[in-house]
Amino acid sequence: MNHAPIMPLEAPGTREWPEHVLAEVAGAISRYPVKRSAVLPLLWIAQRTWGWLPPAALSLVARTLELDEPFVFGVATFYTMFNLKPVGRHHLQVCMTLSCSLMGADRLFKHLEHRLGIGHGETTPDGRFTLRRVECLAACGGGPCMQVDLDYHENLDEAKVDALLETLE
Ligand code: FES
Repeated sequence: MNHAPIMPLEAPGTREWPEHVLAEVAGAISRYPVKRSAVLPLLWIAQRTWGWLPPAALSLVARTLELDEPFVFGVATFYTMFNLKPVGRHHLQVCMTLSCSLMGADRLFKHLEHRLGIGHGETTPDGRFTLRRVECLAACGGGPCMQVDLDYHENLDEAKVDALLETLE
């Protein structure tokens, strides 16, 4: 996954979009007839910019789109793809829904827990991995599957997961 540089957070009252995303923010807003429709794209931009969505970033999205903060918070909490707390450099999301479960997702998840020494929603002490169970990733024919950052990996088993982890810094 290619991250844009992660920007440090400033005090909520003073923080603005960093210079390098201003054109992208404006472009996202311009694609819709009403500003509020750009809430998902702006949340994505914010998450890419800060690595997660702290309250100050939600507030910034709300201010930018002239929305109430609770509305933006509601959108951000509805979608599991938005991180409301910091995550590791690699975000491992294992699908636990029926098709993947029948193909061994539970066994795979336990293997990851054991190998990484962390459970659901936790991050390794070195900040390298965050592990989560998630619902259907819409890759049901390739179960068990896992999303690693923005990439999908399908038809996994323990050996494939081990090999994959070795490739991730
Ligand atoms: S059940 Fe796992 S991707 Fe749909």
